[in-house]
Amino acid sequence: MKHLLSMESLTREAIYEILELADTMKATRGRHDKLPLQGQCWALIFSKSSTRTRVSFEVGIRELGGSVMFLSSADIQLGRGEPIEDTARVMGRMLDGAVIRTFLQSDVEVFAEYSQIPTINALTDDEHPCQILADLQTIREKLGGVEGRTVCFIGDGACNVARSWIWAAARLDFELRIAAPAGYQPEPAILEQAAKTGRIIVCEDPQEAVHGADVLYTDVWVSMGREEEAAERLRAMAPYQINEALVEAAEPGALVMHCLPAYRGKEITSEVFETHAATLFDQAENRLHAQKAILQLIARRS
Ligand code: CP
Ligand code: NVA
Repeated sequence: MKHLLSMESLTREAIYEILELADTMKATRGRHDKLPLQGQCWALIFSKSSTRTRVSFEVGIRELGGSVMFLSSADIQLGRGEPIEDTARVMGRMLDGAVIRTFLQSDVEVFAEYSQIPTINALTDDEHPCQILADLQTIREKLGGVEGRTVCFIGDGACNVARSWIWAAARLDFELRIAAPAGYQPEPAILEQAAKTGRIIVCEDPQEAVHGADVLYTDVWVSMGREEEAAERLRAMAPYQINEALVEAAEPGALVMHCLPAYRGKEITSEVFETHAATLFDQAENRLHAQKAILQLIARRS
């Protein structure tokens, strides 16, 4: 594996290689027997806000022996229109790896191609692979694994996190149900492709979707870059809140997960959030461990 650009591009074997190493990273934090990024310099190039992704990559790169710089696209010439191809060729001459959060998936792919350095997708409009890998690590810890289980994604079924879940379902053996209002359901072409190997059910009724589900998962209703659509999105998704009644309709003991940040009173109630806070913050912490695994697996060997 040279880059981590999407869940779509990962094989089942690659997913398990990352998850195994993520567990080791977690178990050996602070006493790793090798530092795969020793002497390396990585950059985080972000065009969107971030708390978890930024902190976990900055900490993770340092814990693996590397140094790291954070570059907001507003502060570099990329933000003034310098082409991604040129930015990538410059950075490829100087850096050992890049972690990119941006809008277009094609920008991450073009950066990887032109820079020739290990490149990680830290969220695009299409995918959030690092998030789903940390989520899978969390589900392994709590339920022993996702395979044979039912994961129910509720809310914006067309968002990046939902799409990465769709590709996870295409690679691993679990049932993914997506409850989303019309207009916010996954693209038919993506579903058609993923359904060749995955079990994915899309419906409009959240009560029906959560019946027997082992994991209830949600994300913000207004993703970054969609702020102008906020009023319409909040109206359409209001019936898709994870509240006590919805949790009651799921399998007893079902996990409640959220990639965070969470908007209480919108996609999740305050009560449900606090009841499941231990899971939610384990999930957030696992971003660090899963991403350290990714970094080790794609880092250039010196
Ligand atoms: N879940 C996630 O990616 O959070 P941040 O936007 O804070 O990085
Ligand atoms: N779907 C959200 C995820 C945030 C981590 C967004 O893109 O804003």
